[in-house]
Amino acid sequence: MRARVLVADTLDAAGVERLRAEPELEVEVRTGLGREALVEAIPAYDGLVVRSSTQVTAEVLEAGKRLRVVGRAGVGVDNIDVEAATRRGVLVVNAPEGNTLAAAEHTLAMLLAAARWIPQAHASLVRDHQWDRKRFMGVQLQGKVLGVVGLGRIGSEVARRARALGMRVLAYDPFIGPERAGELGVELRELEAIYPEADAFTLHTPLTEQTRHLLGAEAFARMKRGVILVNCARGGLVDEAALLAALESGQVRAAALDVFEEEPPRSSPLLEHPHVVATPHLGASTHEAQLHVALEIAEQVARALKGEPVAHA
Ligand code: NAD
Ligand code: MLT
Repeated sequence: MRARVLVADTLDAAGVERLRAEPELEVEVRTGLGREALVEAIPAYDGLVVRSSTQVTAEVLEAGKRLRVVGRAGVGVDNIDVEAATRRGVLVVNAPEGNTLAAAEHTLAMLLAAARWIPQAHASLVRDHQWDRKRFMGVQLQGKVLGVVGLGRIGSEVARRARALGMRVLAYDPFIGPERAGELGVELRELEAIYPEADAFTLHTPLTEQTRHLLGAEAFARMKRGVILVNCARGGLVDEAALLAALESGQVRAAALDVFEEEPPRSSPLLEHPHVVATPHLGASTHEAQLHVALEIAEQVARALKGEPVAHA
């Protein structure tokens, strides 16, 4: 009998074709299934492929009696209950490399947009027909200090690009050695030591129990007044209520957010704040990245279902 794979979130067509090219696999694409529909459908499948929309909960994994592998077309596996999967003997694989450059470029775009109020100025001119050259005074990045939290794949690419803009980069990552930092022209510091130094912060860690609300009221209070915050990693890394208070007091000058604690964010006051630049989780949304992650995850899932070795998430 052929192994059945359910693709439950939008995956580039090349990834679906790659899976369908395997004679041992039968592939179905059914996106937008709600929680109940997924729990009802999952018992018929051996493999499941998702991006970030589908929540692969313990309930889904429990219902998936035939399930052998869950593939995440991207980096973060925080929408998958990995512990429950491990308990049930279900392999979780991801595609960690395909969207690195897309996320790094988006981070730089967000930093520049926040430093120069580009979305606000655009809205003022195009929507409100104002020619206002006084309201949108920006800050220069050359010569400023960027604090990078998490110097992994994306953090490293962001650091390289920030260096090319003439920024000094300080990074906090307890799992990275000074040699790697030196190669990137980055100075490693404790997080507390970066707070008073950095003119801008950018986050690039996974969301775990250790990193949830990594930046909260205490952290914002210790930062330089007028700091810019960029978050293109995970919404839960920042205490959103504390960020709002810091924006209101002017302690944080601007926040550029691609990710939110709840996605989509329901009537978040952060989205109403005039110093917030926001995008709807677009960090990985380039044609190139989606093609790469789709092919990467299709390869991993096919290998897992054929009993071949794979790299685990
Ligand atoms: P990565 O695993 O390559 O790097 C993460 C780094 O964080 C590692 O070097 C690790 O040592 C470090 N780290 C772990 N715990 C830490 C802590 N407590 N403090 C400081 N550093 C810590 O991952 P990546 O591919 O660079 O992805 C980074 C983040 O970006 C992830 O959360 C991922 O889900 C997210 N992401 C978002 C988008 C998007 O669309 N916005 C796209 C891709 C990735
Ligand atoms: C990721 O973790 O890879 C990102 O959230 C990108 C995504 O899947 O949209």
